[in-house]
Amino acid sequence: RQHIDYKSMKSARVIKEKSIPFIKPFYPKPQALCKNFRAYFKEGTYNEQTNAILEFEERLSKFLGVKYCVSVCNGTLGLIIALRVLDLKGNVILPSFSFSATAHALTWNGIRPNFVDIDPKTFNLEPKKVKKAVNSRTTAILAAHMFGNPCQIEQLQDIAKQYNLKLIFDSAHALGSTYKNKLIGRFGDLEVFSFHATKLLPVGEGGAVVTNSKKLYEKLKYVRTQGNRGDGNCIIVGLNAKISPYGAMIGLEGLKNFKVKLSGRIKLAQYYFDLLKKIPGIHFQEITECAESNFQYIPIVINKKQFGCSRDRLFDILKRKHIYTRKYFHPPIHKFRCYKHIFNKENLKNTEDISNNILCLPFYDNIKKSTIETVCSNIKKLANRFTLSDEHI
Ligand SMILES: Cc1ncc(COP(=O)(O)O)c(C=O)c1O
Repeated sequence: RQHIDYKSMKSARVIKEKSIPFIKPFYPKPQALCKNFRAYFKEGTYNEQTNAILEFEERLSKFLGVKYCVSVCNGTLGLIIALRVLDLKGNVILPSFSFSATAHALTWNGIRPNFVDIDPKTFNLEPKKVKKAVNSRTTAILAAHMFGNPCQIEQLQDIAKQYNLKLIFDSAHALGSTYKNKLIGRFGDLEVFSFHATKLLPVGEGGAVVTNSKKLYEKLKYVRTQGNRGDGNCIIVGLNAKISPYGAMIGLEGLKNFKVKLSGRIKLAQYYFDLLKKIPGIHFQEITECAESNFQYIPIVINKKQFGCSRDRLFDILKRKHIYTRKYFHPPIHKFRCYKHIFNKENLKNTEDISNNILCLPFYDNIKKSTIETVCSNIKKLANRFTLSDEHI
């Protein structure tokens, strides 16, 4: 007879109920999706050009106020094809403080990443350093709106114009963020979004490349589909980067209440900041002037001396209490094993400082205020509980 350990099953359930996840995707209600799913199955088509995909792209471009949108199967592939259609060579300026995909997309295109340091307050590329880093082989700037905080877009646009560089935004985090009252999505040559389960418009796996250029839009459509315009004779080396019809249907539904969700999220983020600001040694990301963040994540930077223990120790203790945080982004990309041999002389002090001390806290659309209070009171209890020599225990 199979032995069932009810006791440990019960305690696992209690832990799960009590634990605070880092993120919870907030999908549309299944009932809302059923009708569209049923219609799709009834249609019996496998063509990627289902109405759902076309409608999703149309609604998304209208929402963002951008002319063209090409949906893709994830943000990484979105970045890869965005760079491909620009036909870039040489090196491209980007932050090392980002998710791996920002740099991998360049490497997959045979372009050398040219890492530039971030502003330690906004965690985004520092325009002055970007300008300094431009050299004769630089062909573009790939900037990321870190954690939803828009970059200093105008300054980057000026540099791109001055040196005749392409400007691409990795906007994976920034759906709903604004710069000078305009939604992110309308800037640069191309912008790329992610609709991964952890993002504000979760579809499972998905993304989109948006642009105001018809020429780039046409190219993007082909490159997403092997480079095939429909006659089987590929005009460009493409790949299969199409979103699934199911993803598009989930995205369409998610867009319906996006604005309401976003304003609720902004209020909850403020609640977090109000509770945390009283704790010594905790610093927040500074939102760029004239911009608004969607607060994709709630990052805090720990000043070990003022707080009383390191980021790593805080992470471990919270984890033991089943409060799950993430060290986004640690290590920075130039320290990855796959890049280390190439970028061993980089001078990216702010990037390394922030990466060593940052912690992103649990946050999702429907997080309860009481959950935020639990996270903050646990952090508060730890502040100054240790002397720095305890760090080595
Ligand atoms: C900054 C950034 N860029 C790109 C991506 C890639 O998006 P995806 O996971 O949809 O491939 C991510 C994913 O989290 C990201 O954080």
